[in-house]
Amino acid sequence: MDKLNHVIEAQQFTPERLSDIFAVAREMEQVVRHYGSNILNRRLMATLFYEPSTRTRLSFEAAMKRLGGEVITTENAREFSSAAKGETLEDTVRIVEGYADVIVIRHFESGAARRAASVARVPIINAGDGPGQHPTQSLLDVYTIQKEVGRLDGITVAMVGDLANGRTARSLAYLLAKYKDVKFYFVAPEVVRMKDDIKEYLHRHGVFFAEEEDLFKVAAMADVIYQTRIQKERFGDRTADYENARGKYIIDRELLQVMKERAVIMHPLPRVDEIHPEVDTDPRAAYFRQAHNGLYIRMALLKMVLNA
Ligand code: ASP
Ligand code: CP
Repeated sequence: MDKLNHVIEAQQFTPERLSDIFAVAREMEQVVRHYGSNILNRRLMATLFYEPSTRTRLSFEAAMKRLGGEVITTENAREFSSAAKGETLEDTVRIVEGYADVIVIRHFESGAARRAASVARVPIINAGDGPGQHPTQSLLDVYTIQKEVGRLDGITVAMVGDLANGRTARSLAYLLAKYKDVKFYFVAPEVVRMKDDIKEYLHRHGVFFAEEEDLFKVAAMADVIYQTRIQKERFGDRTADYENARGKYIIDRELLQVMKERAVIMHPLPRVDEIHPEVDTDPRAAYFRQAHNGLYIRMALLKMVLNA
């Protein structure tokens, strides 16, 4: 298999590449639990985050350090990097690639990672580009489904919440479409329904999907309920739209009653109020395990893009 270079969007991965990444991630679980590793000794990763993050930035940094590498970082790059003086992303990348072997970018504009990759000589990893995509999240999501549900072919997935602006749901739809007989149910408030680009992609690839209003009906059929946060930061001054969308679909004890016994509840996190904390102790609540899987997936990606 050729070297993995940039990680920009979920559609770029072939099923073979996905199983390679998951095999390396399983190895990384052993590295963390048992024997440690120094394979990225003397390698340096730069993280440029123009939007807030807890999991993505810290798990990438932990991943690099767990493999013996080093990290340079600018969190809140919108304010604290020279972007604040008007420097373009392209120029920033041209500079940072002189310092680091791989650059992980979270940006507020859709397409930013692709722009960065078009000028970069080192691998660029998209850690979320505005309402565009979040491909490393979808890799850890699929890895989690495989671990929790035990299969990827033939599953029924309910995607819930802000499907218009939620980049994780968008990337996950692209990625799961690569498996056989996956069925999607989209459950979203009217103002944030799944966008046409994804629906057209699924249609073109012969993947079943339906838009539903009744979360209870869908929850009874789903193997995976993928809940998402209404993306407040994408609403600008449309506060009434945000308030209407928020609170419409909440996972609580009542919903647990209708779910399959072996189904899982996932969420990319952070949650606000769309999953009631009373759900956390149910064995089907997989979202914290899901976030932990991010470390192994990101260790695997760094190992692969850096050819170690
Ligand atoms: N953390 C995820 C993201 O950055 C999901 C979210 O923020 O709701 O896309
Ligand atoms: N899931 C996710 O991307 O989390 P952060 O926004 O905290 O990085």
